[in-house]
Amino acid sequence: MAPQAAQHSRIAEIIAEHSALEGPMLPILHAVQAEYGHVPAEALPMIADALNISRAEAQGVMSFYHDFRDHPLGRHVLKICRAEACQARGAGALAEAAKARLGVDWHGTTPGGALTLEPVFCLGLCACAPAVMLDGQVIGRVDAARLDQIATEAGA
Ligand code: FES
Repeated sequence: MAPQAAQHSRIAEIIAEHSALEGPMLPILHAVQAEYGHVPAEALPMIADALNISRAEAQGVMSFYHDFRDHPLGRHVLKICRAEACQARGAGALAEAAKARLGVDWHGTTPGGALTLEPVFCLGLCACAPAVMLDGQVIGRVDAARLDQIATEAGA
C-alpha cells in the first residue's frame, strides 16, 4: 500500500477504534498524534466527517489544546520559557536570539529536522531565569552564547 493510502487507512482505523467513546474527539486526536508525532493535515476532515461536526469545529478543538501539533517535531525540541520571571530576566531577547540563530519562528523546525523551537510557560526554574528545556531537560541562566552552544550540540 502507498504510504499516503496506508496513513489514510490507519487514521480511519484510529477513528473507528475511538468513535464509540463518549467525547471521542480528544482521544482520537491523542491517538493520531501518538501514531504520527503530529496530527497530519488529512486527519482533521476525516475526524470531522466521522463525528458529524464541521471542519472548522474540529480545527477549533485542535488549536484550543496547545499539545496538538499539525507539524512533525524535529529530532530535538528546545522550549524557551515565556513566563513572567524569565521575561524579567531577558527571555524576550533570548527568544529573538534563538529565532535568528535557528532561522525559524515558534513551532518551526530547522532545515534538516534537527531542532524544533517551542514556547513554554514556566518550567519551574524561575530562580535560574531565563530557563529553557532541551528534550525534557531544564537548563537555567541561558544567554545567547549558551543557546548557540545548545543549538550546535543538537545539530542545528
Ligand atoms: S518563569 Fe520561566 S521558569 Fe518560571
